[in-house]
Amino acid sequence: MIRTHIMKAIRVHRYGGPEVLTLESDVPIPSPGPEEVLVKVKAVGVNPVETYVRSGRYSRLTPLPYTPGTDGAGLVEEVGSSVSGVKKGDRVYVSKTLTGSYAEYTLVPRNGVHPLPEDVTFTQGAGLAIPYITAYRALILKMNIRPGEYVLIHGASGGVGIAAVQIAKAYGSIVIGTAGTEEGKGLVKSAGADYVFNHRDPDYVEKMSDIVSPNGGFNAILENNAHINLDKDLKILTEGGRVGIVGNRANIEINPRDTMVKESSIIGVASFHSTPSELKETHAALQAGMRNGWLRPVVGKTFSLSNAAGAHDDIINGKGALGKTVLTIDD
Ligand SMILES: NC(=O)c1ccc[n+]([C@@H]2O[C@H](COP(=O)([O-])OP(=O)(O)OC[C@H]3O[C@@H](n4cnc5c(N)ncnc54)[C@H](OP(=O)(O)O)[C@@H]3O)[C@@H](O)[C@H]2O)c1
Repeated sequence: MIRTHIMKAIRVHRYGGPEVLTLESDVPIPSPGPEEVLVKVKAVGVNPVETYVRSGRYSRLTPLPYTPGTDGAGLVEEVGSSVSGVKKGDRVYVSKTLTGSYAEYTLVPRNGVHPLPEDVTFTQGAGLAIPYITAYRALILKMNIRPGEYVLIHGASGGVGIAAVQIAKAYGSIVIGTAGTEEGKGLVKSAGADYVFNHRDPDYVEKMSDIVSPNGGFNAILENNAHINLDKDLKILTEGGRVGIVGNRANIEINPRDTMVKESSIIGVASFHSTPSELKETHAALQAGMRNGWLRPVVGKTFSLSNAAGAHDDIINGKGALGKTVLTIDD
């Protein structure tokens, strides 16, 4: 099939609500430079951070106009003159882009393209980058979880949460997850959690505490909603416990004394701080997980590229995450 020189892509010309995500049909298809790869995108991972940037209220804004998105999966269309180890037609997932992934084609630096095994679908592949890089960073690189430790994934039913459950389980933890719906709880359990609780149940903290009381509390907590939960988290850690803050949308009051009595740590986690060697390690772990079968992104709600606005609205306002939100792109 002969490729035209224009494509459909979402463009943002001003910051604002989901309605500023405009589908345009005449966006030039970029050409790869020597160290770049052009990928034909089949599915796009939607991450909450893209809604923060789009709204204009975020510390790291993308200059206007732009196409959102860093995550996606598809087929290599063309490689730059100095690129080796990847060729046209290869199945790949992408973890960074130069031109945005909410588009039919995206330009990716060589180190942002990774092999996608045949038995992992494009929609699953779109859920790999930010969620798994963040979960691996929080659990392994920052909180240094150990086999046999009790690990709470606080908010386990979304993109980062499911990734974290799979990673913590594979690394030998006893995994407790939370979700806000019965369906979400089922999903977290089938992702490998040993116990699942509903974070909307008024008694769930007491119920979780009963499970971990023989251990004196949780050794590690991956926190997706620190503005709601940090105070509770500090009270249910065991001595030397760690909270890794992944998600936070407001202020919260805590008593710092709670950290003294257990010598516990609050650790901020931001995937954008990953160094090249940390990313190399992380993608190697993800490749091993896919090969060995313990890592499989769970696709939740899917939207068409033209309804990116619906996906943005849902990922912030929807009730009951069921895995990763993905945009699909038809040929
Ligand atoms: N620091 C970083 O580098 C980084 C990277 C990626 C994401 N993030 C942030 O991490 C958060 C999660 O991202 P995501 O992509 O996984 O989003 P997501 O797919 O929308 O998932 C959100 C999760 O939060 C849960 N949740 C809702 N209310 C909760 C509560 N009161 N207590 C505990 N959990 C609750 C949801 O559960 P139910 O829907 O079942 O209630 C769901 O599991 C977002 O704030 C995002 O901005 C940060």
